[in-house]
Amino acid sequence: MTRRLTGFQPTGHLHLGNLIGAMRPLVGAQERPGTTHSIAMIADLHALTVEHDPTRLRANTLQVAAVLLAAGVDPRRTALIAQSQVPEHTELHYLLECATGYGEAARMIQFKEKSSAGGPVRLSLLTYPVLMGSDILVHDSDQVPVGDDQSQHLELARAIATRFNARYGDTFTVPEGIRPENAARIMDLADPARKMSKSTPSAAGRIGLLDPPETIRRVIARAVTDTAGVVRADPAGQPGVTNLLAILRACSDREPGELSSYGALKREVTDAVEALLAPIRARYAELAADPGHVGRILTEGAARVRPRAAATVRRTRAAIGLLD
Ligand code: ADP
Ligand code: TRP
Repeated sequence: MTRRLTGFQPTGHLHLGNLIGAMRPLVGAQERPGTTHSIAMIADLHALTVEHDPTRLRANTLQVAAVLLAAGVDPRRTALIAQSQVPEHTELHYLLECATGYGEAARMIQFKEKSSAGGPVRLSLLTYPVLMGSDILVHDSDQVPVGDDQSQHLELARAIATRFNARYGDTFTVPEGIRPENAARIMDLADPARKMSKSTPSAAGRIGLLDPPETIRRVIARAVTDTAGVVRADPAGQPGVTNLLAILRACSDREPGELSSYGALKREVTDAVEALLAPIRARYAELAADPGHVGRILTEGAARVRPRAAATVRRTRAAIGLLD
């Protein structure tokens, strides 16, 4: 049984790239019982590393949980948790800090970028990748789906685990990073050279999972194409059209038929995206009306994963020389 941990940030709005690259693989793994045990974790502690609004953070955490449920995450088969509700994450964090070099943490590209952006820098921003390592190691994860921006953090987790095992005896499973399945990487519709991301300041090329149909129609209608006038997949020459075709394929699960114009392509894409998102929006609306229910699912998820996490912490404490 492979153990897999997928992390989601509770900031900003989830988009079509997240759905196709991260949530659908999670839901897909549920269909293969007995092969993968998945944890879907909302990284609420991560949000504390930069200036944040407490009320909004609470709302965003519940919103991301509700979107995951609406997208098909089944809490009976996938443990859905909020990072902060499993205190073993933070307990192991300190122990791992004692096995991590200052230079290793300071070298992280994301830390360098965020800390040089101006304004005060929280100490937790520096140590966050160690907490991410703790999230991964505490659940004995074998696999962690990561995009490019997180692969350096995953490497750090592997380095810490390997070093700890060598120094204090075999304690951790050394995790493996996996790429989003089917190489499904959705690009920004307004700038197909970059991936669709919630951290892009402009929403002009992003399809939010909860966007109303008019917004989706507008974003797709304005998607950047080219002057070739031929609908074909050509990543180098026609990145915009290639991305639209990839979205069509991913959303409709079939090969696109012959399409004579960019207008026809955009209409097909709009219909396929709408067919995929309309039921998710509807389920989300039901779940959002009952935040207590979503909150209970998170509490139950935490209770389910804690025994194993506690066992990892006990093993680590013993290995490093602490009393029972
Ligand atoms: P973002 O870039 O919007 O901040 P995250 O880094 O929080 O997204 O990624 C959350 C998950 O969604 C990761 O598993 C990541 O691989 C996946 N993901 C993010 N953007 C895309 C995209 N454009 N296409 C496919 N998968 C994506
Ligand atoms: N750092 C990840 C991000 O920015 C979120 C995250 C936190 C995570 N802990 C994790 C991802 C553990 C995978 C595994 O997107």
